[in-house]
Amino acid sequence: MSKRVLTTESGAPVADNQNSASAGVGGPLLLQDQQLLEKLARFNRERIPERVVHARGSGAYGHFEVTDDVTGFTHADFLSEIGKRTEVFLRFSTVADSLGGADAVRDPRGFALKFYTEEGNYDLVGNNTPVFFIKDPIKFPDFIHSQKRDPFTGKQEPDNVWDFWAHAPEATHQVTWLMGDRGIPASYRHMNGYGSHTYQWTNASGEAFFVKYHFKTNQGIRSLSGEQAAELVGKDANSHQTDLLQAIERGVHPSWTLYVQIMPAAEAADYRFNPFDLTKIWPHKDYPLQRVGRLVLDRNPDNVFAEVEQAAFSPNNFVPGIGPSPDKMLQGRLFAYADAHRYRLGVNHTQLAVNAPKAVPGGAQNYGRDGFMAANGQGRGAKNYEPNSYDGPAETGRPLSAPLAVSGYTGNHTAPLHTKDDDFFQAGELYRLMSEEEKSRLVANIAGGLSQVSRDDVIEKNLAHFHAADPEYGKRVEEAVRALRED
Ligand code: HEM
Repeated sequence: MSKRVLTTESGAPVADNQNSASAGVGGPLLLQDQQLLEKLARFNRERIPERVVHARGSGAYGHFEVTDDVTGFTHADFLSEIGKRTEVFLRFSTVADSLGGADAVRDPRGFALKFYTEEGNYDLVGNNTPVFFIKDPIKFPDFIHSQKRDPFTGKQEPDNVWDFWAHAPEATHQVTWLMGDRGIPASYRHMNGYGSHTYQWTNASGEAFFVKYHFKTNQGIRSLSGEQAAELVGKDANSHQTDLLQAIERGVHPSWTLYVQIMPAAEAADYRFNPFDLTKIWPHKDYPLQRVGRLVLDRNPDNVFAEVEQAAFSPNNFVPGIGPSPDKMLQGRLFAYADAHRYRLGVNHTQLAVNAPKAVPGGAQNYGRDGFMAANGQGRGAKNYEPNSYDGPAETGRPLSAPLAVSGYTGNHTAPLHTKDDDFFQAGELYRLMSEEEKSRLVANIAGGLSQVSRDDVIEKNLAHFHAADPEYGKRVEEAVRALRED
């Protein structure tokens, strides 16, 4: 069989891909060597800016199938009938390290899901944890700076990590979660996913509900101890990627069952916890889990850069029947992601196959035009302004979700406190739920990090948070830190 011809970027045949063209046998190279120039120049441009957080990740395609009727709560079309299937793409990730970081580390995991619905793409950009470290987006850049590499030492610093938490008592719940057994998932297949925020659903009659999403792994939860993880990182730094890729290649398709907690909108104001505070959960006895459907991943991407690195998820990509809640963190995220995509991928990133809506063949129907790398034309003679007299696409007049009632004055307000709200109660509840062995491992993990902090006042402030969560929790962490520092 004759080989296909190697070509330049513009399609011309390449004569020699082993020897550069030179002036004479031993002389300098020629500027006219198109293959050499193009090859070196293209190579220089292979990298794009990595994600500022969640840089390291793995992705796969699959589908979501509705198993239970939720039409009383949302008129979202992709949830409209039992048995309805929607194509999805899911990108998992670690948070703090850079693109080349290891997978098996103590860190939350991203769980970013794109539903290619018939009414546009719906992105649910969550984590494997039901809560988060902070409750106001204005703190996010500081938080991330403290967890990523220090600009002077060039490495992650326990001093920075714990100094931030010393000033963020609201992080105690998520710190307890992260330092516990689920802090290092064995693989992406063996962890749950959560929407984490509260979102709004609206039904066909216009009634509003607040919802929290829970994707429970059908593979069972499996985690690694710090020692097991360190050993695995030494053997295969890309262990989560290896696991996901190979499982799907073997035909072992991971799946998750989606449940939601549903709160009628009228109950939000008087609920004992602020339902829009991302550092809090809703106990299941208040709002039980209701099953919605099944998510299955069954296809690996053909090209990691094109489909995983260039995947763009934005929490403000909603579809009719689903909308945001007033959770301040969510509100901040509604801006941050598409802004990151315009920087990292360019204004036309929604034209890339992994991001393009399948609902409208040929791409989005609107009056946005041009910009770098515009691949899709909008049809010959289509007008680029609106309104117009030429049958261009027009608005529906139907809001995607119900309006939210607001009151009061503008200002830099703290989050409203409900009757049972403080920074520590739920962290204490999580601690008290743990078995004795789990508590011991939690205490050892916290002490292992906190004991490396150089300043006593930072250690004291953190200890005060664990004491406030539960006196026994605080005492045990304090003793373990003291023992390690005396070593
Ligand atoms: C105000 C708080 C937050 C801000 C400003 C923020 C901002 C960002 C930015 C800029 C990116 C990179 C996006 C890209 O380049 O494609 C990102 C990625 C991500 N964030 Fe956040 N984030 C916040 C909180 C959260 C929370 C609370 C969660 C989970 C509940 C979360 C989950 C993720 C995930 C999963 C990704 C990776 C998405 C992907 O796979 O492409 N983030 N975030």
